[in-house]
Amino acid sequence: MNYELAYISGATSGLGRALCFFLAKQKIPLFLTARDSKALESLHEELSALVPVISLSADLRKKEDIASLIASIHSKTPDLVINNAGLGLYGDVLTYSLEEQMEILEVNALSLSQITIEAARALVQNKKKGTILNIASAAALFTYPTFAIYAASKAYVRHFSLSLRQELLPYGIQVLVACPGQIETPFRTKAAKRKINEKDCLTMTAEKAAALLWKQIQKQKPHMVIDWRYRILCRIAKILPSFLITRYLRRALALRYHPRTFSSF
Ligand SMILES: NC(=O)c1ccc[n+]([C@@H]2O[C@H](COP(=O)([O-])OP(=O)(O)OC[C@H]3O[C@@H](n4cnc5c(N)ncnc54)[C@H](OP(=O)(O)O)[C@@H]3O)[C@@H](O)[C@H]2O)c1
Repeated sequence: MNYELAYISGATSGLGRALCFFLAKQKIPLFLTARDSKALESLHEELSALVPVISLSADLRKKEDIASLIASIHSKTPDLVINNAGLGLYGDVLTYSLEEQMEILEVNALSLSQITIEAARALVQNKKKGTILNIASAAALFTYPTFAIYAASKAYVRHFSLSLRQELLPYGIQVLVACPGQIETPFRTKAAKRKINEKDCLTMTAEKAAALLWKQIQKQKPHMVIDWRYRILCRIAKILPSFLITRYLRRALALRYHPRTFSSF
């Protein structure tokens, strides 16, 4: 499928940025959104040398920003929509304020649902076919103490996407969901709230992840765990007792953040 316009959220950092350059190399015009307007402006400038670009800064927690994003989506009707923006927090739920934790749901689940639905509505109204790729996480597949809200938000993204896919197929709209393993991006540092190593033996570069996502889009694979190492790990995890997996995941995550104490917020 030749795409006329690709919408990407979280465009200025990590995977989103890598996806922008990957799609620009495929000569696909871009519709970028991100929270940081200065970073967005400079990315817009860089990418404009390669393809036509439109950009709109938006904080996906804010109702008014979502409303203007949706209005833009209706007027531009992107036929490739990548809901990539997302965040997480490492640590026990009781050590964070409600506000910080609800932000994860607002960005990862709520705004993603709104954009997905309205992007699909715009395509149907304009009688266009298209692809919507929602970025979940391999964390969506597990019970994940100390990453509970994030893993649950991504499980929501996975289920929502797979269900909506069935509803939208008759209109020629493919809804896909990707469950990447760890990617070298600022995500971990933000989730740990301290500078930590973004790389280990299981991480992949953002460029590699972007290339694998493009393969998923081209093959129109409804659901993909990325990369092959994570696919093998997920298979092994299925045959092991779940308490062992949960214990392993919790221990692995504990190495990334300082022990946190109860929050009275
Ligand atoms: N890195 C990993 O190991 C990994 C693994 C599996 C899945 N993922 C998923 O991959 C996606 C991309 O993450 P990444 O690794 O590239 O992390 P990242 O570098 O931290 O990028 C996340 C992007 O989301 C944006 N974002 C966060 N809150 C926002 C808000 N309120 N409004 C608008 N934008 C907001 C961030 O903007 P700001 O820069 O302004 O905060 C940033 O551009 C996320 O959905 C993440 O959950 C990541």
